[in-house]
Amino acid sequence: MMIEVGQLVREVRASAVRVIEDELDWEHLPHVHAFAFESIALNHADRNGWDARVVLRGGQALRMTVTLDADRLGYCNRTFDEEGYEIGRTTCRTLPAGDERTTMRLRFFVPDHPGLDIAAAGEFYATLWNQLIDEDEPKMIHRARALKEGAKLHKSRRQVALADGSIIDVPLACPHQGLPLDCEPDAHGVMICPWHGYRFDARTGQCLSGQISGWTNRAAGALD
Ligand code: FES
Ligand SMILES: [Fe+2]
Repeated sequence: MMIEVGQLVREVRASAVRVIEDELDWEHLPHVHAFAFESIALNHADRNGWDARVVLRGGQALRMTVTLDADRLGYCNRTFDEEGYEIGRTTCRTLPAGDERTTMRLRFFVPDHPGLDIAAAGEFYATLWNQLIDEDEPKMIHRARALKEGAKLHKSRRQVALADGSIIDVPLACPHQGLPLDCEPDAHGVMICPWHGYRFDARTGQCLSGQISGWTNRAAGALD
C-alpha cells in the first residue's frame, strides 16, 4: 500500500500549459536534470503521458510512467523497480496564480513498510522535486517566449568559431523547441543542445542525431 509522506507547494513563473508540457517532455530528463538522470529510453508516449526506462545517476534502473489527469491540469508520476513494484508516486495539480504564474501542489507517496521514516522520505522527495522544478522553470519561460516570438526568434543568428578558426552563423534558438542553443561547437564542429541533447553539425545545420531536420545554413555575415 502506498502512503503519503509529504507535500510541496510552489509557484512557477509559467502557465499551467507549460507545466504540463514540461511533464510530457520525457526527452529532457538526462539533459536538464543531469544531476538525477543518466539516461532515458522510451517505451511509449502519447498526448496523455509516457512510459520509459530511466537510469538514475549512480546506475539504478527504473521504469517511470507519467499520466495526465483527465482535465489535463495535473499528472501522476510513478516509478517502479525492475521487478515491477511501485517504489514512488508523485501527484501534481496546477492552479493558475496570475499572468504566467502557476501554483504546483505536489504530493509524495511511497510503499508503506515497517520502519519507514515518513519525515525523511517526505523531505527527500520535496528536496528532489524542488530542484527538478528549479531546473524546469527557465525551460518553461524560454518556451513561452519561443511560442510568442515564433519565426522571428528562429531567424536570429549569432556567430561561433570552429576549431579551424572559421567563423559561422548559427541560430540563437534551437530548431527543436526554440529554446536557447546555448552551446559551442566541439572540436568536430558538433553542437549539442543542452535541453534535449539533439546534436547539430554547426556548419551545415543538419541534426546529426536525426530527430529533426535542423537549420538551413547561410554564409557568415549574410543579412537577414
Ligand atoms: S530545444 Fe530540444 S534539443 Fe534543443
Ligand atoms: Fe523536468
